[in-house]
Amino acid sequence: MHLTRKQWLQALTLALLPAQPTAKILTTAPDPTIPALTYSITIPNTTSANSASSSGADGKGSGPIYLRLTAPTTMQWLSLGQGPDMATANIFIVYAASATTVTLSPRSGGQGQPSYNPAANVTLLEGSGIVDGRMVAEVRCENCWGSWPALSGSGTSGDAVVEAGGAATGAGGGSGGFVMDPTGNETAWFWAYQLGAPLDSADVGAELGMHDVKGEMVWDLREAGFEVGAGEELEEGFNPFA
Ligand code: HEM
Ligand SMILES: *[C@@H]1O[C@H](CO)[C@@H](O)[C@H](O)[C@H]1NC(C)=O
Ligand SMILES: *[C@@H]1O[C@H](CO)[C@@H](O)[C@H](O)[C@H]1NC(C)=O
Ligand SMILES: *[C@@H]1O[C@H](CO)[C@@H](O)[C@H](O)[C@H]1NC(C)=O
Repeated sequence: MHLTRKQWLQALTLALLPAQPTAKILTTAPDPTIPALTYSITIPNTTSANSASSSGADGKGSGPIYLRLTAPTTMQWLSLGQGPDMATANIFIVYAASATTVTLSPRSGGQGQPSYNPAANVTLLEGSGIVDGRMVAEVRCENCWGSWPALSGSGTSGDAVVEAGGAATGAGGGSGGFVMDPTGNETAWFWAYQLGAPLDSADVGAELGMHDVKGEMVWDLREAGFEVGAGEELEEGFNPFA
């Protein structure tokens, strides 16, 4: 067997490093007419374990989850909703910020256009952008185990006040909001997109038109996991999709 220098170096590197996390990534392409529209999730076992041990006061999960959204640039925006309905969902919206970058806009709110929610603890990871003609958003969310704190009162953002279905204001939601089980085998999600020219906006509160197409999906989170070695920690910028 002949190995190129690169392959040989890779083999050597693998032999010298402790086992790298191999992510089990759950991906759905919900629109058969647009296979480049995809939604993915993966969750470190450190996160799930926290929930199972119910160390949190309410037994809810803690720690990050990772999401990826991809779509052709023929879409003006695409979106993933986490939760059973618009009123309580955590909504991730992605649109072009420039010819090479994308904006991630976390929003909440049930009626019409959701509003930017500054309480969402989300990060766009390196690797995101306009890549090979597709919008790619690789996201870490630190507080996705339930509804983000509801938008309430005035002056929290430039947007109109929204009623988030009576969701509690505590971090991660509470009565009225949804709670997601990190090992849930039938978790509720939905998605939507609008076709159109690139928005080219870095404004997380950008004005968006209504969806052309939307749908729902159920994810079995047992298909979405990766392992972090005992005693190891996830680095800040770790990207399981890279
Ligand atoms: C951007 C501005 C948006 C506007 C103006 C808007 C408007 C509406 C309206 C009027 C409806 C009810 C009529 C219908 O069912 O077609 C609706 C339903 C729906 N929208 Fe949106 N929407 C927006 C964004 C989003 C986003 C970002 C998502 C996220 C995935 C989404 C997901 C849904 C879903 C799942 C429904 C059906 C279930 C429900 O009514 O709760 N929408 N939207
Ligand atoms: C995650 O999986 C790794 C590899 O199997 C294991 O060593 C580690 O203890 C697990 N971590 C938790 C918190 O369960
Ligand atoms: C986001 O989550 C991280 C990790 O839990 C935490 O250290 C940080 O303070 C949070 N940031 C905000 C703005 O809540
Ligand atoms: C999820 O678990 C429930 C309860 O064990 C079971 O009834 C259901 O069939 C499972 N669904 C899937 C998709 O595995």
